[in-house]
Amino acid sequence: MKKLFIKTYGCQMNVYDSARMADLLTPLGYALADGPEAADMVILNTCHIREKAADKVYSELGKLREMKEEKARTGDKMLIAVAGCVAQAEGAEIVKRQSAVDIVVGPQSYHRLPELIARISREKGHALDTDFPVEEKFDTLPEEIAVGGPTAFLTVQEGCDKFCTFCVVPYTRGAEYSRPVAQIEREARKLADKGVREITLLGQNVNAYSGDGADGEAWSLAKLIRKLAAIEGIDRIRYTTSHPRDMGDDLIAAHRDVEALMPYLHLPVQSGSNRILDAMNRQHTRDDYLRLVERIRAARPDIALSSDFIVGFPGETDEDFADTMALVREVGYASHFSFKYSPRPGTPAATQKQIPEEVKAARLEELQTLLFAQQRAFNTSCEGKTMDVLFEKKGRQAGQAIGRSPFLQPVHADHAGHLLGQIVPVKIESVFPNSLSARLLNVPCTAEAGS
Ligand code: SAH
Ligand code: SF4
Ligand code: F3S
Repeated sequence: MKKLFIKTYGCQMNVYDSARMADLLTPLGYALADGPEAADMVILNTCHIREKAADKVYSELGKLREMKEEKARTGDKMLIAVAGCVAQAEGAEIVKRQSAVDIVVGPQSYHRLPELIARISREKGHALDTDFPVEEKFDTLPEEIAVGGPTAFLTVQEGCDKFCTFCVVPYTRGAEYSRPVAQIEREARKLADKGVREITLLGQNVNAYSGDGADGEAWSLAKLIRKLAAIEGIDRIRYTTSHPRDMGDDLIAAHRDVEALMPYLHLPVQSGSNRILDAMNRQHTRDDYLRLVERIRAARPDIALSSDFIVGFPGETDEDFADTMALVREVGYASHFSFKYSPRPGTPAATQKQIPEEVKAARLEELQTLLFAQQRAFNTSCEGKTMDVLFEKKGRQAGQAIGRSPFLQPVHADHAGHLLGQIVPVKIESVFPNSLSARLLNVPCTAEAGS
């Protein structure tokens, strides 16, 4: 067997893609390794969303180059491939900056990796493929899927037609594409057969999903979710990332009616200021978002909401930022991701006058203080409650297991090591900054015995 090491940066879509690259290379004799040192092939699956994310790739490539040279001294080889969104955005530039790179392959063409590997072992030099044959990709990826536990990602939609003025995704992932319903259903059944209980449907604009159904109609995400919820073994469904513009009535209704659809929704707002939302080309106002949250909460009152925020977008005044703070207070989030605006080459906002770094840093700190307080408040409100946890892996202590609540909080419980892959009711006993501690309902508090 040859050893393959894949390092994944960026979003869950990249996590899914990395797993599919491993599936693709298994028939070529590659088995996954834990680190790059002994690997015959290393793939960096990269992210271009912010400057820091892209910079990490080049520093990692510097280290890999040394390993490759070290191996060459003993007659061994190491193939280095750069995949993902930096590969798409920077293409041949990567090889110019780091000549140790053998293959550059974009997020829509990685199904051609076997061909690219064959090509560079025949010819000297580098191989580059950054085309956008997204439909071909999904049609040719292997049917065989390796699963790593009771939860799995499943890409249903890719690409973005929204062109927010700060964002590289429409350029790196291409136009919106939805996989056909039957193809997704087949993949979900495979996952269920292998013991997966929870699937997270992925898309850069997942709720813009509009895939061909067997009935000749275009199916919405809500209709797809109802279909997948009927698969034996699939007990939990999540989806991410949604755009507020695409949150249709039927999807809101699914949150009310579909038991398997978990009460957690990541619904990025980015800013609470109408002026900034407009400059970002978000295509919704602050009020649209607040009304939407009201409708979602009317359908599913206990839903946990999460969002992405950008502070320091060009032109953001103290007043605009105050609008964001006010929106956060009004909504109340259970979790969040927040970032300083990072100018990205080729995007419209990058050429505008930039906000000073220290202003961005101060705003981010203020926003995060509020958001973390809300997260703590949400977690604390769970104390003493009983909820179902899907146990995914063993914890650090003997007999401990870690899983997720319906609201996506990490939960650990003692005496639960034998319950991996099961959905079990637990009582939340204490709250930590990033996780909850729970007790199995059928184990008394004083239980000593490990399991
Ligand atoms: N499709 C998702 C976003 C994908 S990118 C959506 O529409 O919400 C994930 C997050 O990264 C974005 O929501 C945004 O908050 C952040 N982001 C994107 N571009 C950025 C940039 N140039 N600077 C800082 N944060 C950015
Ligand atoms: Fe980027 Fe906007 Fe598309 Fe999300 S909707 S991927 S933020 S362009
Ligand atoms: Fe990054 Fe590409 Fe995902 S830029 S966030 S890896 S779509």
